[in-house]
Amino acid sequence: MLVRGAGPGDVVRARVSQVRKRHARAVVEARVADGPARVEPFCPRVDVCGGCPWQGIDDAVQGAALHAHVQRALDRAVGGSAPLLPLRAVAPRAAWRSTARLHWQDGRLGYYRAGGDLFDVPDCPVLAPPLDALFAAARRHLLPALRGQGALRLTGAPDAPSGTLTAAPDGATPPGLARALAAVVEAEPACHGAALVGPEGVRTFGDPVDALGPERVPHPAGTFVQAHQPGVQALAAEILERLRGVPSVLELYAGSGAFTFALAAAGHRVVAVESAPRAVEALRAAAAARGLSERVLARLGDAARLPPDPPRVALIDPPRKGAREAVAALHGAGVERLLYVACDPITLARDVAWLVERGWRMEQGRCFDLFPHTGHVETWVDLRRGAS
Ligand SMILES: C[S@@+](CC[C@H](N)C(=O)[O-])C[C@H]1O[C@@H](n2cnc3c(N)ncnc32)[C@H](O)[C@@H]1O
Repeated sequence: MLVRGAGPGDVVRARVSQVRKRHARAVVEARVADGPARVEPFCPRVDVCGGCPWQGIDDAVQGAALHAHVQRALDRAVGGSAPLLPLRAVAPRAAWRSTARLHWQDGRLGYYRAGGDLFDVPDCPVLAPPLDALFAAARRHLLPALRGQGALRLTGAPDAPSGTLTAAPDGATPPGLARALAAVVEAEPACHGAALVGPEGVRTFGDPVDALGPERVPHPAGTFVQAHQPGVQALAAEILERLRGVPSVLELYAGSGAFTFALAAAGHRVVAVESAPRAVEALRAAAAARGLSERVLARLGDAARLPPDPPRVALIDPPRKGAREAVAALHGAGVERLLYVACDPITLARDVAWLVERGWRMEQGRCFDLFPHTGHVETWVDLRRGAS
């Protein structure tokens, strides 16, 4: 039974919401008694918002649950005990988000409750500076223009004084939204740029770019950004350590280069494949600006369509749906080693199982607690072709 809102040892009254063949789901209606892992959450709205369902659970218990979840999934994938190092915790655990996607609906701006309606959020203690000030500025200027529904992304480097907004209406652009975005950029020191991604294309205001990642590369607003910046720095350092001595790396799902430029700065040649045109433009521009065009070859396209004669070692970081086709392509192309970074342990395990069935083995792996209090976890797994 999966009970949303319950912690280990809690006594709860819960309503069953779904019954499946092998499991059921339930939602807590009332907590009758707290279990030993309960701690005081730092957000007063934690029970109504839905953004941080694990915030009232002790950090070490969260970490142990994440590790156990990944261990179980990978054990099944490798058909034994998967060699997983201890989970890496990252700090900070409050005010950690350097990017956040909020939603709007007819003048309300906030997060969706689990399986429910939109919760209007006045402020959010999970946002890292400068996102806290950026969010306040966005609410001041945008709320009246947020008609219909859509998503608003806030992004900013943790040590920068300002960040960017990306507004993406679901349908037609609400009247007044472009003017309101221009006004935030014009009037608010916490906002240096905005992008409006509507049916008519992308309109920009100010300079909608943030310098992020271990090498502070420019990320155009709206392209993928890692949310926990100190955490991703630690993850990149571990990736570099694993790939030490590898001259050339094929990097699939490269985004605008959080790992790409960390690798290039350490002397690796990187063939980086990414499907978002604005991210690839940013990769190329950053490579040229840093005199790294020889070392960073950015290709626009689907990860499953590998470049000819690819490097024998690959680093991949796919979205939640995993990399089924790309993994098959890497196997077919004779790649010898794969460092797989994943934000979904279930699709990771599916892809690892596929490789293990074809003679690959898992050398090592580790989980990173990169999304505190959410129940999500980042994992890397180092896979080698052939038995040891
Ligand atoms: C989890 S992000 C990782 C980005 C990058 N590694 C980083 O840390 O910033 C996944 C990236 O894969 C890209 N992507 C999604 N589907 C893709 C596909 N079929 N082929 C290539 N890239 C894809 C997305 O645009 C996104 O930039």
